[in-house]
Amino acid sequence: MRENNKEEVHLEEVDINDVKVGMYIEDVIEGDGRLLVSENRIIQNTGQVEDLRRKGIKKVRVDIQKGKDVGRLIATPDVNVETDQHKREFEYYKELDKAVEVHKEGLERATRVLKAIREGKPFSLTTIKSAAQDIVDSIMRNPDALLSLSQLKDYDNYTYIHSVNVAILTVSVAYHLDYSEERLIEIGMGGLLHDIGKMRVPEEILNKPGKLTDSEFAIIKRHPELGLESILDQRGIPDIARKMVLQHHERYNGKGYPFGIKGERIHEVGLISAVADVYDALTSDRIYKAAWTPQKALATIFKQRDKDYSSKIVEIFTKMMGVYPVGSFVKLATGEMGVVVRIEQGALLAPDVLVLFDKYGKRVKDPYKVGLYKKLAEKDGEKYRIEMSLNPRAFNIDVGDYIVKTSGLLYNKNLDKK
Ligand SMILES: [Fe+2]
Repeated sequence: MRENNKEEVHLEEVDINDVKVGMYIEDVIEGDGRLLVSENRIIQNTGQVEDLRRKGIKKVRVDIQKGKDVGRLIATPDVNVETDQHKREFEYYKELDKAVEVHKEGLERATRVLKAIREGKPFSLTTIKSAAQDIVDSIMRNPDALLSLSQLKDYDNYTYIHSVNVAILTVSVAYHLDYSEERLIEIGMGGLLHDIGKMRVPEEILNKPGKLTDSEFAIIKRHPELGLESILDQRGIPDIARKMVLQHHERYNGKGYPFGIKGERIHEVGLISAVADVYDALTSDRIYKAAWTPQKALATIFKQRDKDYSSKIVEIFTKMMGVYPVGSFVKLATGEMGVVVRIEQGALLAPDVLVLFDKYGKRVKDPYKVGLYKKLAEKDGEKYRIEMSLNPRAFNIDVGDYIVKTSGLLYNKNLDKK
């Protein structure tokens, strides 16, 4: 219905289900027509429409002069937005195939080097540098694909896979901080090497199921210095990597170890390593504790910003990981349950979900992928919102399996739900 007032002649009331990207929202209206708030903004993505819908908004007033026309948009869907989204998705899955190899090879190389250190043998710096270079190359080609694989876990080889994951997470944060390629490679090396000191801590202490005694904890706390010591004579290890070995357990408030230095006295790569290290540790199964869900780990880290962790780094980290990080096990409002396999940047509530259980809770024979970003933009898309995140353990799911499978599966089988 068009307004009669001359000044508002270009204002049009639009049902929330008909709001499209590119429209200029003047006001937000509640169901009974009562004006709620002035918006005065152009809708940039379907996630923003979803936000309005989530707030219970039924209608909005659209300015068809400042933004796209209602009628024109209904007749002609915004091809560019769909194309961009499709392109992002395509680029991601294309890189994921390569990223699977980068992760696998990174793990083999890190294992070889860490084992050599445990045995007191010399190790090849080239091995570490090549692994770091491959990680950086993948992230520079697509910042999300290898990041998804940092959610892979291996209970029996924790220290090795942890090193690779911390390298991916630290390089990813540094990439978002616009570090140069050269620095990113150094950070990758630091991530791979950060826990080498643990190779000099007896395994019975590292893998002790119960609570550590004070003297055992004192030995654990020596691993950053022991790590630095074991690479002291190794030429070619960048200073930044050495800082990461030494400072990844320092805390922003000075309550960390080995030196208890605080704030900006800790090198930025130390602050980045602290967040990456703790996130991977919290979300991994250990002999003394079960893995936390990504949401619980992120919430804990977020709560500790400005205390244990630098708020600048925490903000980048949480934004990068999303509300439902890849590897989250979620239930949709449809009742279907599955694993988050890709984040749609700019619409963090609407990732790609690989559905493993139907609406009756029955395991599906052939998992299929639902792109919530696309679904939520459809007329009855509301039922495709994420209702809650669950613990995959209760459903006997190894989420990592499914993240990897989407690389080959997407194009080998038709996972997209029609
Ligand atoms: Fe450590």
